[in-house]
Amino acid sequence: MICLAGHQLAKNFLDSDQVIHVLSGTDIIVNQSELVCITGQSGCGKSTLLHILGLLDAPDSGTIELFGKEINSNSPDAAHIRNRDMGFVFQFHYLIEDLNAQENVAIPAMIAGESRQKSMNRATEILHLFDMDHRIGHYPNQLSGGEQQRVSLARALINNPKIVFADEPTGNLDPQHSLEVWQNIQKLNQDFGYTFVIVTHDSELANSSPIRYELKNGILVRNN
Ligand SMILES: Nc1ncnc2c1ncn2[C@@H]1O[C@H](COP(=O)(O)OP(=O)(O)OP(=O)(O)O)[C@@H](O)[C@H]1O
Ligand SMILES: [Mg+2]
Repeated sequence: MICLAGHQLAKNFLDSDQVIHVLSGTDIIVNQSELVCITGQSGCGKSTLLHILGLLDAPDSGTIELFGKEINSNSPDAAHIRNRDMGFVFQFHYLIEDLNAQENVAIPAMIAGESRQKSMNRATEILHLFDMDHRIGHYPNQLSGGEQQRVSLARALINNPKIVFADEPTGNLDPQHSLEVWQNIQKLNQDFGYTFVIVTHDSELANSSPIRYELKNGILVRNN
């Protein structure tokens, strides 16, 4: 079943008087429970593509469908779809410094209307999946980089999203922590069927991913 489809996505940026062509009408299809990796040179447009797919930015032209329904970053329910159906993990964790790990993870559930108690319980459950039980009361500055990323992953999952977007989720980590986060992602995909679209510079990670695309000259090219 097709989870997410992007059709003919195009995006240019205007930089003083120069047009930067970033996406040139590219397509992407992500099936449910797939883990898709996107690689490509720095500046080729990977983050731009991910932001467009995740409704954080609008394409100049082209359309996006989530389970066959067209969705649009300008539509009134875009924020709702993002919070309920999509999870995001960024290169820099963007955790809230004044909240501990459990509270950071619980926030999207509370925004979605869940009670504080239920949200906090579910946050505890997800953090447990990542072997973070002993860190739930820690604040972001008391966590290692790998732990911060695991909290970000847990936060991305709390509302049981239909799809999780991750932009360089291991980009800031040493090889050991990078491997741990990657193993968590693979486990979530294989054991729980979560659908992922992951942008990574790390060719080793990309090579162990079942579906790989390279973004080149504004077009996604299947690499395996
Ligand atoms: N808001 C913007 N205004 C102007 N140019 C932009 C804007 N956002 C991105 N760009 C340009 O668009 C191109 C693609 O940027 P993008 O961040 O998508 O690349 P990337 O593939 O994610 O790179 P990296 O691997 O370094 O993260 C770059 O040349 C960038 O400078
Ligand atoms: Mg980027």
